[in-house]
Amino acid sequence: MSEIHIQLPSSAAIAYPVLVGSHLLQELGQRVKERAPAPSCALISDDHVAKHYLPMAKASLEAAGYRVCSFVFPAGEANKTLRTVTGAYDALLSARLERSSPVIALGGGVTGDLAGFVSSTLLRGVPFIQVPTTLLAAVDASVGGKVGVDHAMGKNLIGAFHQPAAVFTDVTTFKTLPLLEIQCGLAECVKHAIIKDAKLFDFIEHNIAAICACDSATLAELVAWNVQIKAVVVMADPFERGERALLNLGHTFGHALETLAGYANLAHGQAVSLGVVAACHLAVQRGEFPPGSALAVESLLTRIGLPVRIAIADPTAVFRAMGSDKKIISGRLRLILPTEHIGKARIATDIPEGQIMQAIGYIQQQGAAVA
Ligand SMILES: NC(=O)c1ccc[n+]([C@@H]2O[C@H](COP(=O)([O-])OP(=O)(O)OC[C@H]3O[C@@H](n4cnc5c(N)ncnc54)[C@H](O)[C@@H]3O)[C@@H](O)[C@H]2O)c1
Ligand SMILES: [Zn+2]
Repeated sequence: MSEIHIQLPSSAAIAYPVLVGSHLLQELGQRVKERAPAPSCALISDDHVAKHYLPMAKASLEAAGYRVCSFVFPAGEANKTLRTVTGAYDALLSARLERSSPVIALGGGVTGDLAGFVSSTLLRGVPFIQVPTTLLAAVDASVGGKVGVDHAMGKNLIGAFHQPAAVFTDVTTFKTLPLLEIQCGLAECVKHAIIKDAKLFDFIEHNIAAICACDSATLAELVAWNVQIKAVVVMADPFERGERALLNLGHTFGHALETLAGYANLAHGQAVSLGVVAACHLAVQRGEFPPGSALAVESLLTRIGLPVRIAIADPTAVFRAMGSDKKIISGRLRLILPTEHIGKARIATDIPEGQIMQAIGYIQQQGAAVA
């Protein structure tokens, strides 16, 4: 088992462990008790995950002495809303949860973001425990303390920073994930490798088959490595004022494609893959990144099974959609570009429109329009 410690510089009080291993779910009760002892707790999950893992998690928590209130909501991003949050408040308050009672998110990023938001606001804040069950949630969403829900005007527009008391990742739960979810999680891992760690890039290249087959030891190594990278970035910049923006590599392009294609047609990880390819091409075009490295990125994403080209009806619409990304600062488009070699990236705010349009053109595939 790996243990990564996250400590935020601003406050010594905010420090928590991320445990990554196999069969942690069976020991959940004891583990939670060590971090958040209380007479009761809440277990929040979506209906897909609950079907597989809620009985085991609940039994373990009850065996450790907790009175458990479960709240299960229908799976899917469409339910990451204030309406679901209200349902959770109703259930948890009716069960008389106390200030010390932890809220435990058992599920993917949707569950983690939603349960985290509930825990940050219920009774003005109760302890929060993450038990991520998707690769994406394990390597990305569960680390960093961003919690929240979507609004009709856009994704993740309502939320808070609320750090968990602990993160317990049992990689054996990934075995029931559809392959697409593993591929989408890998898109964020490749992103981490490009911005921070060429050795991770090599590791992914050499272990694609084992990762896609959900080999527990390989997944545990992959998750721990990525958590370490995200932790270093988040610890240096907990409120996203600077360096943390590097984690947005591929995301400004990606969010625009997701918006135009419709969230149902293009998964987030697929959009990130396309966005990463566009950003790499842009950097090559500016002479900042070797063409061979950009090709290596494209080849790795293709081998994973992620898209590197997409049919785009109107490239200027993609450019305009990039302009409405919420990461814009003072009206300037802020892009993350790989620079010099795999493992290094920079924040760029001075990219001319023509170069961005050329990068969009690069990932454009002729044929039926998707975005
Ligand atoms: N807070 C952050 O920093 C952060 C970072 C990245 C992404 N996110 C958020 O994360 C969300 C995406 O996360 P996600 O991809 O995990 O989505 P998700 O939670 O919707 O999970 C994807 C699908 O897999 C199912 N599932 C989850 N675990 C399973 C398992 N072990 N076996 C079988 N099925 C399982 C879910 O029910 C769902 O249908 C988005 O809402 C995004 O905004 C947040
Ligand atoms: Zn992402």
